[in-house]
Amino acid sequence: MAQLQATPPRTLSLSGRRSGGGAATRPQRTMVSFRCSSSARGYNITLLPGDGIGPEVVAVAKDALSVAGSKEGFELRFQEMLMGGAALDAVGVPLPDETLAAARNSDAILLGAIGGYKWDNNEKHLKPETGLLSIRAGLGVFANLRPATVLPQLVDASTLKKEVAEGVDIMVVRELTGGIYFGKPRGFGTNDKGEEIGFNTELYAVSEIDRIARVAFEVARKRGGKLCSVDKANVLEASMLWRKRVSAIASEYPDVELSHMYVDNAAMQLVRNPKQFDTIVTNNIFGDILSDEASMITGSIGMLPSASVGESGLGLFEPIHGSAPDIAGQDKANPLATILSAAMLLKYGLGLESAAKRIEAAVTETLDNGFRTGDIYSPGTTLVGCKRMGEEVLKALDSQK
Ligand code: IPM
Ligand code: MG
Repeated sequence: MAQLQATPPRTLSLSGRRSGGGAATRPQRTMVSFRCSSSARGYNITLLPGDGIGPEVVAVAKDALSVAGSKEGFELRFQEMLMGGAALDAVGVPLPDETLAAARNSDAILLGAIGGYKWDNNEKHLKPETGLLSIRAGLGVFANLRPATVLPQLVDASTLKKEVAEGVDIMVVRELTGGIYFGKPRGFGTNDKGEEIGFNTELYAVSEIDRIARVAFEVARKRGGKLCSVDKANVLEASMLWRKRVSAIASEYPDVELSHMYVDNAAMQLVRNPKQFDTIVTNNIFGDILSDEASMITGSIGMLPSASVGESGLGLFEPIHGSAPDIAGQDKANPLATILSAAMLLKYGLGLESAAKRIEAAVTETLDNGFRTGDIYSPGTTLVGCKRMGEEVLKALDSQK
């Protein structure tokens, strides 16, 4: 997938990732127009179900991928690997070497969710979250695309007024492998007064900002042509550099309208008038926070997929929601975010746009048919569980030509 070029690209070039079964590399393609060689008909997918509701939603998305694949005449081979709390329980580390190796050797990775109460008090290197951060860093997937789209069928599920939520279509481009999540120094210590302290470092190098900015400009160019860079440049040096570099990169994209916004204002504007946003680019931690906020405009965090991509072309696809341990194992989870992440995997990870469209259309049809999990339920619709929602999506997929 996404071959995010190091030099100023004219288009976000998504070069053919090696395809499974030794088939020929697919031709160069752009972010929105993929051309797959018809000989590349087999792909290896690593599944990382993880914890909590992760296994439930991944099982459903896997079936959707298989059906979409067989409809389009290609085969997906799945390999399930341990990660997060499941890996901690089984082998004592949150990201086993074999998992990272399998992920690196596959054509794309689909992740469910990680974490749970059980591991909350573990030391940092034994937390499920550390496994997630390690796989993001290990795969070099520095660009995280988080679309927040209000579907007409779900406008009533939004906590915002209909006229505010209707038609919202935002893409948050979150920097994923830098900033305060990874910056050093970090740790615990003691201050001059002998008091215990915890500290982290928000740090960005020019190259890190430039590459995420280019991805964001490319994405914005293919969408509404508007990019809002969110920072805290009135206070933080890392944000001052961020703003300077994003402004500099803007000269490569005269067709994209760039604006800047402080993160506190952005948080407010997102609920005041979300339709003003098209594409947002921001650092790791602001992206974490703002993408959760943006998700609620759409009605439920259970609807939002994401794609994480980097220079190698290998992509990691995951719903933005967490492991929801409170509803795990109860067949209550909304699988649509993971199913839509599977669609992103096909589109951005493998360049199989028509297969991706099949899944998206099946989700739309299932919603049109009135099926809703608890998180998106509104009176007059049919309340279903995770499995049934999955079956309805499969039915819709199956009935496609
Ligand atoms: C996310 C999550 C993760 C993050 C956690 C689980 C480490 O909140 O993907 O948004 O903070 O990136
Ligand atoms: Mg988050």
